[in-house]
Amino acid sequence: MLGVIGAMEEEVQLLLNHVSDQKQAVHAEITVTTGTYKGTEIALAQSGIGKVNATICTQMLIDLYKPKKLIFSGVAGGLLPNMRAGDMIVASHVVQYDMDLTAFGRRHGETPGRDRLIECNPDLVAKATQAFDLAFEDMADGPNLMLGTIASGDRFVQDKDMLRWLQREFAALATEMEGAAFGHTCSLNDLPFVVIRALSDSSGSSASGDFEDNLHRACHNSFKLMDQMIPEAMAGHKRGERRSEDRRG
Ligand code: ADE
Repeated sequence: MLGVIGAMEEEVQLLLNHVSDQKQAVHAEITVTTGTYKGTEIALAQSGIGKVNATICTQMLIDLYKPKKLIFSGVAGGLLPNMRAGDMIVASHVVQYDMDLTAFGRRHGETPGRDRLIECNPDLVAKATQAFDLAFEDMADGPNLMLGTIASGDRFVQDKDMLRWLQREFAALATEMEGAAFGHTCSLNDLPFVVIRALSDSSGSSASGDFEDNLHRACHNSFKLMDQMIPEAMAGHKRGERRSEDRRG
């Protein structure tokens, strides 16, 4: 079973349209759809916005549906000047930028006992980049792909100083409101995960208007990548299972 989460309805709807043999259940007001996506068993949930919602949703999905791997997909605000709406970020790392224990000498984003930058699963990162190539290779003037850190916090960033700080403090490429909470939860449960985002805005003074204008296009790009990735996401896992069965046999 693959766990897939998006925050908003727009971020899960396109995937939902392609899930066959659908069954739905509601837990803590979160609707989870199980079924098959191009042959892969999937549990797809809409978490709601923000780190608390993302955490509750991720732990619930892990406890009740036992996914072996998890992906969070949706939109984000870009932090570099040359980025365009629709460009895509695959997170190599995620960080909770608003975790602040600097009063005790810790660095911004640091949770005691955990790495400041939470690493996404390298195999899932590689699969996401391959899926990007397949999804967009035939497209003239298609989106760009960047790999790097995504900074998450409970704030819609619409402020040049804040976006500069996120870029300089964490070398972050994009900001959103769920990825690091999701990553933290997956990592506590020792499960492989990755965060995939398409840019809806540039996190500056026009961000909320740009977000509304570009949401549909960004969700479409995110969906195109996920549509290629989901059938491949569990491949290593199945091979791994076969290898251990081979050893037993
Ligand atoms: N998601 C999309 N754009 C965002 C922004 N600018 N800040 C936080 N989350 C976002």
